[in-house]
Amino acid sequence: MTKKIKKVGVIGAGTMGAGIAGQVANAGIEVILLDLPTEGEDVNALARKGLERLKNPEMPGLISEEAEALIYIGNTRDDFDKLADCDWVAEAIVERLNLKQQLYRNLIDCCGTDTIITSNTSTIPIALLTKGMPNSFCQNFAITHFFNPVRFMRLLELVRGEQTADEVIDTLNQFSEMQLGKGVILCEDKPGFLANRVGVFAIQCALNLAFEMSLSPAEADAVFGRPFGFPKTGVFGLYDLIGIDLMVDVAQSLVNILPDNDPFHKYAKTNEFVANMVTNGQTGNKNNQGFYQGLGGDRKVINFNSGEYVSFARVRSDLLEKSEKEGVKVLLQDGGPHGEFAWKVLSEVLCYAASLLPDVTSNPADIDDAMKLGYNWIKGPFELLDNIGHEYFINRLTEEGRPVPVFLLKNAEKNFYNAPAEGLQVLQETGVYAPIVHSNDTLRFSELKQTLKAENSNAVASWYEYKEAAVVEFHSKANALDSDSLDILSDAVYEAEKRGLRGIIVHNDSQHFSCGVSLWSVRECFEINDYQKLDNFLKHFQNTMLQMRDSSLPVVSAPVGMSIGGGFEVVLHTDQVIANTNSVMGLVESSVGLIPSGGGCKEVLYRWNEKLGDSRQAAWNAFMNIGLGKLANSPLEAEKLAFTRPTDSFHVNRDHVLGIALSTLNKVKKTPRREPLRLTGKTHFEEMKLWLSTNLEKELLTPHDQTVGIEIARIVTGGDCVEGTLATEQDLFNAERASFLSLAKSPETQARIVSMLDAGQTLRN
Ligand code: NAI
Repeated sequence: MTKKIKKVGVIGAGTMGAGIAGQVANAGIEVILLDLPTEGEDVNALARKGLERLKNPEMPGLISEEAEALIYIGNTRDDFDKLADCDWVAEAIVERLNLKQQLYRNLIDCCGTDTIITSNTSTIPIALLTKGMPNSFCQNFAITHFFNPVRFMRLLELVRGEQTADEVIDTLNQFSEMQLGKGVILCEDKPGFLANRVGVFAIQCALNLAFEMSLSPAEADAVFGRPFGFPKTGVFGLYDLIGIDLMVDVAQSLVNILPDNDPFHKYAKTNEFVANMVTNGQTGNKNNQGFYQGLGGDRKVINFNSGEYVSFARVRSDLLEKSEKEGVKVLLQDGGPHGEFAWKVLSEVLCYAASLLPDVTSNPADIDDAMKLGYNWIKGPFELLDNIGHEYFINRLTEEGRPVPVFLLKNAEKNFYNAPAEGLQVLQETGVYAPIVHSNDTLRFSELKQTLKAENSNAVASWYEYKEAAVVEFHSKANALDSDSLDILSDAVYEAEKRGLRGIIVHNDSQHFSCGVSLWSVRECFEINDYQKLDNFLKHFQNTMLQMRDSSLPVVSAPVGMSIGGGFEVVLHTDQVIANTNSVMGLVESSVGLIPSGGGCKEVLYRWNEKLGDSRQAAWNAFMNIGLGKLANSPLEAEKLAFTRPTDSFHVNRDHVLGIALSTLNKVKKTPRREPLRLTGKTHFEEMKLWLSTNLEKELLTPHDQTVGIEIARIVTGGDCVEGTLATEQDLFNAERASFLSLAKSPETQARIVSMLDAGQTLRN
């Protein structure tokens, strides 16, 4: 049995409270967001600040203005009684037990016995939070531990107390999965639950060992990042992101509640250098200086010897690259300082995670999930252990005279995961495998593919047959597309037709669907002066897009994360898009001096024409969207930009999109072939050129922005042709390719591409 949640109260409008309120509003549900009253003109200033934070364009917590309208702000003195008819009240005030308990007493007086009350506490056990509270309160009470930023982080740790009613847990579980889009993990009431228990250990350990081994932040982050399958912020970048002062508090609060023999204590102490940084206000991104300072080309990094900021250069090596591609074992086996640091940190983290079995959780998959959903690790600790190999790991620990965690030793010869055709299984305490159980709606391709055999595969893409559909997966770095990716896509469409499958689904479970065409492959062509090769690649891209569109079978894309540039052109040519609420889409090629040439300009132009029925306005909108490289931060924004069609859909839980794609495949309508399009011609082309030169004069555009803009204008208007000239789809494809090639030959575009690849920076030339 579950209750229906129609109205929610959130108390505390700081980082977390505002985030929770935003995500509830994103689900279309009314929220009351309260904070303390303030002196002065605006009594609701604190809650208002929380709401404002949700509108930060860098990290928007809201998906639409409609969602914003669902948030009512107020204060706990004047508006407390408005919580009386809420179905769920989420407390997210400061981490102080006495304040939280006082608040609960007030809630007992105000709310009915039906109201579910939860705390967002990161550290306080539920038994302490509810101490002395009446049974009726305890039955309705749980911990809902969200992660920051709430809209984007997928994990929710749900903790029940001894008295919490099943109905309360079921309601929160279902609501959070279905309406807030979270991956819910039911946790024991143990310190730090799962993700922070392992995550805080990992970063404290990496920080301390980096100091001990005299590695610079840039070096430590280059190791404790992509080569481990962790986010590229690494360890010091993550400290800056979270706030160095907050991390000191978090570590301290874990020290207070963990048993004395917990290995965390070894790494918990704040070293003198870090303590001084906090005193000096060098607390991280929120103060614009922490271990790093500044952004882009001006980025600096702290020098541990002098305490001064020095210019930052990304640390690169063949070893790190190889490890990123082939797995972390490559790095662990290297005897150099990076290999040594990697082994020391990772072996500590993996041993710590294994030591939590079976007391903190009996299920290794829960820890793996917590780290993947809460810390954005690509693989969890036990998946990493399987990759490294238990034998290698245990032998090395033994050689070093270190203890091997009991659970690992007991199951030395077994992997944690087993992948028979009937579904992925995970090792239990008893030494037997049990199926990994998710809700009925969750289907993760990363898990599913382990039980399937690829029908065709190369280094950057694969396709699989599943439930009579061809599922195409990109799997290169950032899922960048090259000729090999298109070979697999093309083969999947061809084979699916030949085999009489139901359709084709383009999907992957990585952080991003695809960040576009591989700039490395473009660079390779201009460095060897082989523009024919580049043209052949573009033709291959365009033909594959047409092949998908013209196939007799439905082609569905289920993009999660970013689909930009060429990645978005693939999405644009599918018959139906089944996106996630947090999917980001756009054509951003102009920033590297190129234009979309896999049919992106063509499709956006057609779509604006369909949406507006006004060819001049359509051409103008396409010109602006592509020229400015507009990004839609949610599918709702995407529809406003004509990037998606009303028939496309989006869903809050990214773990659901593949299942929805599979179940809707038979109902998808094929997109008809494009009829020739009426072009707006020379006068309109001149108007766009005038707009470009005016903005160049005002210094709003750079000279090369103007050159790129002229090429976009040429495509969407037809250039010097007469107004009303008809263009076929192929004419538009040809125009795209011609412009792309002329830009790729220009030194300015080449300089932009080199800057992006070598320094990770956008060059404004
Ligand atoms: P915060 O400091 O950003 O916000 C706390 C807010 O609560 C402030 O706006 C404050 O004015 C308000 N407040 C304090 N006492 C209040 C009271 N009696 N009544 C109403 N409002 C009151 O804190 P943050 O980071 O949002 O943390 C909130 C809770 O979430 C804490 O329990 C924390 O441990 C937990 N948490 C924090 C995470 C993070 O990344 N910041 C992640 C997960 C959990």
